[in-house]
Amino acid sequence: MTRFASRVFSGVQPTGNLHLGNYLGAITRFVEMQKTHNCIYCVVDMHAITVWQDPAELAHNTREVTAAFIAAGIDPQAHIVFNQSQVAAHAELAWIFNCVARMGWLNRMTQFKEKAGKYRENASVGLFAYPTLMASDILVYRATHVPVGEDQKQHLELARDIAAKFNHDYGKSIADHGFGDAFFPLTEPLITGPATRIMSLRDGTKKMSKSDPSDYSRITLTDDADAIALKVRKARTDPEPLPSDVDGLKGRAEADNLVGIYAALAETGKADVLRDHGGSQFSAFKLALAELAVARMAPIAEEMRRLLADPAHIDSVLADGAERARSIAQDTIDSVKDVVGFVRGRSA
Ligand code: AMP
Ligand code: TRP
Repeated sequence: MTRFASRVFSGVQPTGNLHLGNYLGAITRFVEMQKTHNCIYCVVDMHAITVWQDPAELAHNTREVTAAFIAAGIDPQAHIVFNQSQVAAHAELAWIFNCVARMGWLNRMTQFKEKAGKYRENASVGLFAYPTLMASDILVYRATHVPVGEDQKQHLELARDIAAKFNHDYGKSIADHGFGDAFFPLTEPLITGPATRIMSLRDGTKKMSKSDPSDYSRITLTDDADAIALKVRKARTDPEPLPSDVDGLKGRAEADNLVGIYAALAETGKADVLRDHGGSQFSAFKLALAELAVARMAPIAEEMRRLLADPAHIDSVLADGAERARSIAQDTIDSVKDVVGFVRGRSA
């Protein structure tokens, strides 16, 4: 068995409206993993353009996600933070993976079906090939662990399938080039924690999403204290008071979601929240939730505003991260070329 050094990689799309689901489901986990792993966190601008993005907004949103990472506590010096398009090896490896992955595998991706909707014929080729680029993001660093929300599970399984097929198809060449019995690791998805799927504040059966037309469906990382309080107050609920144990949340999607958000923000479990708030009316619980959300989120929004006032500094953080990412990725892509049989002579 080939051993791979443990390394964390994850990505967030710069498509605007970064929300509480992104924060609790992904970014807080990114922060935590810095203590135990070498981490690479990427703003995936090439994934963003699989659906139309206004160029000026894309650039702004790229800086905004970067600011959110830093404001939330990611250390871009100790770890690596960069935007995907600055490291060409992602696109190079993605092409090779397009030739490893099968049409049938991609045809099963539920996110493509959801995003393409009724107009499949009109979806970009990039939207269909999205998961092969994502596999490339991860595997160009031979990352072993990928923290994400629940919605990314199927894409990570596909990344494992691609790694396994590459290792198998090129097995002899991998061994001949001295890479042992596996070139790519089979990446572990890390979909854990209390908040892997935060739901919309307007509909407890839909996930909180950047693209929901209703601004009241999500708390964003740029919302100020008044906006947060208003959105919590307007969140949909049912008429019953809160139950006193977790079983009582069954069949009550909105109550379950608000208790889950409270628990994640307070860094405790739902049972603890219900021990304190069981029997309360939603009006009282929402006041407590709004207070907690403001206490936790407002300082991050404030720090993001401060960082975004100096875009040149953010760009220099991304350039520095890209340079360090590039040196790791280049090493992988050179070896992949040798394994695949691409000639790469040095000029005389
Ligand atoms: P995206 O906004 O699609 O780029 O997602 C960035 C990260 O946030 C991914 O790890 C997602 O799985 C995670 N994420 C997105 N929406 C939610 C949600 N509603 N609840 C929990 N995690 C989420
Ligand atoms: N597809 C992910 C999302 O929408 C973003 C992403 C792109 C990603 N490349 C990645 C996440 C690699 C983890 C690892 O949330």
